[in-house]
Amino acid sequence: AVQGAQVLVASNRGPVSYTVGEDGSLRTKRGGGGLVSGLSAIGPEAGALWVCSALSDGDREAVRRGVGEDGVRMLDVPADVHADAYNGIANSVLWFVHHMLYQTPLEPVFDAEFRRQWASYEAYNRAFAEALAEEAAPGAAVLVQDYHLTLVPGMLRELRPDLRIGHFSHTPWAPPEYFRMLPDDIAGQVLRGMLGADRLGFLTRRWADAFTACCERFAGGLGDTRIGVHGLGADADFLRARSQEADVKERMAALREEIGAAPDGGARKTIVRVDRTELSKNIVRGLLAYRQLLEDHPECRERVVHVAFAYPSRQDLAVYRDYMAEVRRVADGINERYGTSGWRPVVLHLEDDFARSLAAYRMADVALVNPVRDGMNLVAKEMPVVSDTGCALVLSREAGAHEELGEDAITVNPYDVVDTARALHEALTMGPAERTERSKRLAAAATALPPARWFLDQLNALRDGPGDGTATG
Ligand code: G6P
Repeated sequence: AVQGAQVLVASNRGPVSYTVGEDGSLRTKRGGGGLVSGLSAIGPEAGALWVCSALSDGDREAVRRGVGEDGVRMLDVPADVHADAYNGIANSVLWFVHHMLYQTPLEPVFDAEFRRQWASYEAYNRAFAEALAEEAAPGAAVLVQDYHLTLVPGMLRELRPDLRIGHFSHTPWAPPEYFRMLPDDIAGQVLRGMLGADRLGFLTRRWADAFTACCERFAGGLGDTRIGVHGLGADADFLRARSQEADVKERMAALREEIGAAPDGGARKTIVRVDRTELSKNIVRGLLAYRQLLEDHPECRERVVHVAFAYPSRQDLAVYRDYMAEVRRVADGINERYGTSGWRPVVLHLEDDFARSLAAYRMADVALVNPVRDGMNLVAKEMPVVSDTGCALVLSREAGAHEELGEDAITVNPYDVVDTARALHEALTMGPAERTERSKRLAAAATALPPARWFLDQLNALRDGPGDGTATG
């Protein structure tokens, strides 16, 4: 392109995906999430371009047929290279390091197979760097997203020194003592790749500090790269409008049927959680805490229901498939042990349905968000905004959101199921006035930085160069 784009975003998962219909036609599915709504707010303004991966067969078919949306370029990296980079390195190594998920007596093992996959990760990052270099106008701003693309800033800097390059991490960052389990040369490559950016963004101060500490220990410091903290918030306007729509009301009626009524005819209280079935979300310990609650407080039986939505995620990885099976097994075990003819203690759903998630948000008395480690966790921010009666929030101290919501949440150590059971009980029995007050403050804190502003703040900081308000490095 002669002119090129002034603003570019790069991420593994893009704003749209395609499926091939029965008749061979391509159907579009819009993605969700903060990044998507953040970017669509500025899209038309500056001729922005979003570079992302073709992830499904439908996506690859769309690239082959030259079908696409304005402002989106999908990269058709060979499927085996993408699989190694995405499943092998990004989701099995980098995600595990930053979320500290390894069972260290057996894992990780950095063997020859790992080296082979790492070469694919490099090739995958190079494909992005080359596409961005090709599409960017002189002096354009490029915002690279997440752990899939840590090498892109450095590679792009070499190809196009004129660009303003930013990178944003949607995950935690591992502290140096954990990060250094990566082979030294690989750790160095990751840090130097990131430091190719003018500016790096993190969700909380804690992750930014961990990154800085890693750079000081293993890369001789931050150099000229600046660091900013941007705590992505919930999109209140969108959520409130969307959760009033007819399909959400239908799902509420269906859920009410599933939940049933308490013995006295009154409404049962709900403990709601909504997650990808993700190891770091700690769904199984959440279920165990609920079981402990039913043990410690028999008066909760028949009167409380745990509504748990655990949507399929990263099912190419055996450990995710096993985890999903474990979630189902533990939930079934609780239903068998405690359930009665008129009361199913755990209402578990495993198929993704956004309208049903919003329905559960609206009906929540207690929101349970107990990850072992989480970059932010938007569910913790969304539920207080959407819940009809203002929910109490049980929140892990290891979620990034805790930095902003900790004061009005009930804090838990995510490993301690007895304490989590106690917190659930405290949340269930919180007086209505206190619950409303806290929920209002939670909603206010949760929406302090809506996605569109989150994105524009970073773009402006990147364009303005050194000296912006949030830079610390
Ligand atoms: C996290 C990551 C995102 C990722 C999302 C869903 O939020 O930070 O980059 O897109 O999980 O995971 P998936 O593997 O389905 O893209």
